[in-house]
Amino acid sequence: MPVTTSAVGHDELAVLKLLALDGGLDGDVKLSCAGLAERLEASNQTASRRLQRLESAGYLTRDTVSDGQWIAITDEGEGALRGEYEDYRRIFEADTDVTLEGTVTSGMGEGRHYISLPGYRSQFDARLGYEPYPGTLNVALREDSVRRRSAVSSFDPIPIDGWESEDRTYGPAVCHPATVETAAGEVYERAHTIAPERTHHDDDQLEVIAPEKLREVLTLTDGDHVTITVGDR
Ligand code: CDP
Repeated sequence: MPVTTSAVGHDELAVLKLLALDGGLDGDVKLSCAGLAERLEASNQTASRRLQRLESAGYLTRDTVSDGQWIAITDEGEGALRGEYEDYRRIFEADTDVTLEGTVTSGMGEGRHYISLPGYRSQFDARLGYEPYPGTLNVALREDSVRRRSAVSSFDPIPIDGWESEDRTYGPAVCHPATVETAAGEVYERAHTIAPERTHHDDDQLEVIAPEKLREVLTLTDGDHVTITVGDR
């Protein structure tokens, strides 16, 4: 029977954290719904619903036995907890970088156009210290990284001012220094993230610029996993 799915919220993440504290990242943990309910100070129904939601979201797997259930946290579940952990790191540790994970994707060829515009190019040269390869490397962020990305807003950005050509205006953008690491562990140090200053509707896409063509120097193709570490200025 299909389980009603609903987005995993803070209540569910709190349950996931309890399970991880019980050792759920290392393997199966034995649990009774009543026991969990007691620790959550909630009803059995509530405890059971939260477990169902975590299961539906793919954050844990369950195997029900006569006296309870065996639970294991999946990689997705660990990813969600890591997202929370990164947030706390940002809160309590000064100057930590934000590490984002995702896969290389292709956009619609717009990056090449914008990065080539003279009004932006002169600023890149002056403020980033290089002339970017004409284009942006698009990275589709993993779900937990989309959430973690908000931490970047506490960093001081490198501003790229808006400007006007004869027939239109071009909006301001913000850059942050970033490194790009491939799944093989190869690291490119001299890159920047770039995003329009105001719009936030494409939060799951990260765009990266660099003096060189990253697909070439890091031998990247669509679908390849990359880790982007965004630093404060
Ligand atoms: O088509 P799309 O919007 O993804 O690309 P673009 O922004 O016009 O950039 C042209 C191509 O160069 C794309 O394949 C980008 O992924 C790639 N690129 C790169 O490898 N390294 C950069 N520093 C910038 C773009």
